[in-house]
Amino acid sequence: MAAVRPAGHDAEPDPSRLAGSIARRLRQLGGIGQDPGGGWSRIGFTRAEREAHELFASWAGEMGLEVSRDPVGNTYARRPGSGPTLMTGSHLDTVPGGGNFDGAAGVVAAIEAASLLASESLEHPLTLVCFACEEGARFSAPCLGSRVATGQLDRAGLQALRDAGGTSAFQAALDCGLRPQAAEEAVWEPGSVAAYLELHIEQGRVLQEAGRPIGIVDTIAGSTRVEITLTGRSDHSGATPMGLRRDALVAAAEVVAHVERAARRSRSAVATVGRLEVWPNVVTIIPGLVRFTLDVRDIDPLRQRELVDDVLEQASRVASRRGLGVAVRPLHDQSPFVLHYRVREQLARAAAEVGAGYRVMTSGAGHDAGYVSAVAPTGMLFVPSRDGISHSRDEWSDVEDIALGAMVLARALHRLDRTPEAEA
Ligand code: GLV
Ligand code: MN
Ligand code: MN
Repeated sequence: MAAVRPAGHDAEPDPSRLAGSIARRLRQLGGIGQDPGGGWSRIGFTRAEREAHELFASWAGEMGLEVSRDPVGNTYARRPGSGPTLMTGSHLDTVPGGGNFDGAAGVVAAIEAASLLASESLEHPLTLVCFACEEGARFSAPCLGSRVATGQLDRAGLQALRDAGGTSAFQAALDCGLRPQAAEEAVWEPGSVAAYLELHIEQGRVLQEAGRPIGIVDTIAGSTRVEITLTGRSDHSGATPMGLRRDALVAAAEVVAHVERAARRSRSAVATVGRLEVWPNVVTIIPGLVRFTLDVRDIDPLRQRELVDDVLEQASRVASRRGLGVAVRPLHDQSPFVLHYRVREQLARAAAEVGAGYRVMTSGAGHDAGYVSAVAPTGMLFVPSRDGISHSRDEWSDVEDIALGAMVLARALHRLDRTPEAEA
């Protein structure tokens, strides 16, 4: 899709060389964490994620950058300079059976942007980052590495987060050789990051449909997640008349259908029941207990919480009508993030310099950039996702589009170096 015009700048990038290098790096990453069931499972806080971080460290080392790792597994590569650092990067973990672009595209683009800037003088240091455990799939809460680094999650928080098997994020980090007991050492000094930029695949089809190669994100949706448990009674599936049943699964079905109806009525929310477990899950037994998750995302924080309340009220109504118990466990609650408009301006100017058409858009998916925006001026760039497919083995973005994004990223970092964001 990308119509690449080289930047009118000292070191003119060669777009096809850049695309070739991105393809090579993505292929290398693709050799890590392939799931026998298809796609990639480089789950956060596992060996596969660590291996991917080591590959990033070897790329950065070859470029002469200074590599460091913090106690919770964030990996940094730094080019020296003076004052607070410019920073760019993303994550290398995936959802189970996910794709090889979500996160990886931003890390590879960061490496390429640093290499495009290698012959340019920058005043500020430039730091490339791979955040650890971004995907919220395992621990039901996202962006653990960036939240620790930005002081929004501590050791106790890592201990409280549990996966479906009861293992804490803290234990998982220990098990893959990290030092979560020293989480506070991972927190950035206040004011140490001048600006953070993250390139990411769009994960939707807005850019494809608009025929634009670049998205500039203004807002990242918030997310509220809860786990709902409905408790009825397990009984014989043949001997129990329909009128005497307390079937937790039929009740859950009513609630799940309500989730879709309520989200469709909302002007901007999306809502998902992504995990549902049935006990005892046997063909001849009426389900006595069902546990499922709800994930509501919205760029409007008020409506985000209203939708969650609406679903919980419906769950109570259904449970009391059917004689069931209901219990709710909060998993995660994060308001939307509005990104820095001056950084957005610099991204727009950089896109214009590179000759890349862009559109300003919201992000329905969550990103480390959101948490970083709490402590540093932050911007996000999207590149198109083929047919909007993501969190799937079929996820795809053209390397030519990622190359164009890397060129915009490099130009924007250069602009931010010259024009401190606070005065831009
Ligand atoms: C992260 O990919 C998310 O779930 O938004
Ligand atoms: Mn991602
Ligand atoms: Mn993701």
